[in-house]
Amino acid sequence: MPPTTPQVPAEETWNVVDEYYRQLFIPADAALDATLKSSDAAGLPAINVSAPAGKLLHVLARSIGARRILELGTLAGYSAIWMARALPADGKLITLEFDPKHADVAQANFARAGVASKVEIRLGAALDTLPKLVAEGAGPFDLIFIDADKQNYPHYFTWALKLSRPGTLILADNVVRKGAVADAHTTDSNVQGVRKMNELIAAEPRVTATAMQTVGSKGYDGLAFVLVVG
Ligand code: SAH
Ligand code: DHB
Ligand code: MG
Repeated sequence: MPPTTPQVPAEETWNVVDEYYRQLFIPADAALDATLKSSDAAGLPAINVSAPAGKLLHVLARSIGARRILELGTLAGYSAIWMARALPADGKLITLEFDPKHADVAQANFARAGVASKVEIRLGAALDTLPKLVAEGAGPFDLIFIDADKQNYPHYFTWALKLSRPGTLILADNVVRKGAVADAHTTDSNVQGVRKMNELIAAEPRVTATAMQTVGSKGYDGLAFVLVVG
């Protein structure tokens, strides 16, 4: 190939491939479709995980036999429904959300998806609700998905560890941000939050971690996988 040929396909291709896999592996789903529709109709931002990423959360939760899942950042409940569907009948997912409007939209979506009995929304800023979860002995969780405000990711990771046991899988969304994560001089407070969390992870002997870059319908971003080992 001549050196001027772009080596990275255009974003349009990422969408086409996401759609290809969605059609093949992820059958049309009335409850999930209605969740995204209701989110849009209520004016919520379309920042839910993609369908392939939602399915990844589901596959991971099933792989580890998760019975207790914690999510930070509910939005309309799209990712929560994917994970809740991986739970056994007596499993439980707690999801933290500070916007009451988002929580209302999500609650209706959990009911429509038939997972309301397994899902509990804790309303409030996660930095307030996380200490309460610790105080009431809600942990340990088997899977923790961090996806709320990025500035607080370092704190969320620290709380997630307190709610973990050896074997807990902690996932963090949006850890690449179009590559900005590798910029030590970034002035974006979201990216600074992710970098600070990454430094905590790197210095934490109780975890072993990796991160994967992703492209797709949500653009260029990435997901961190942090396994608690001690
Ligand atoms: N996990 C969802 C997307 C979450 S978007 C999905 O993939 O379907 C991030 C959510 O975090 C938003 O709903 C936002 O209101 C919520 N959020 C932002 N800051 C928060 C905070 N401090 N505490 C709790 N929730 C917060
Ligand atoms: C955005 C995407 C996310 O997955 C998220 O959790 C927050 C924001 C965004 O694209 O802005
Ligand atoms: Mg996200």
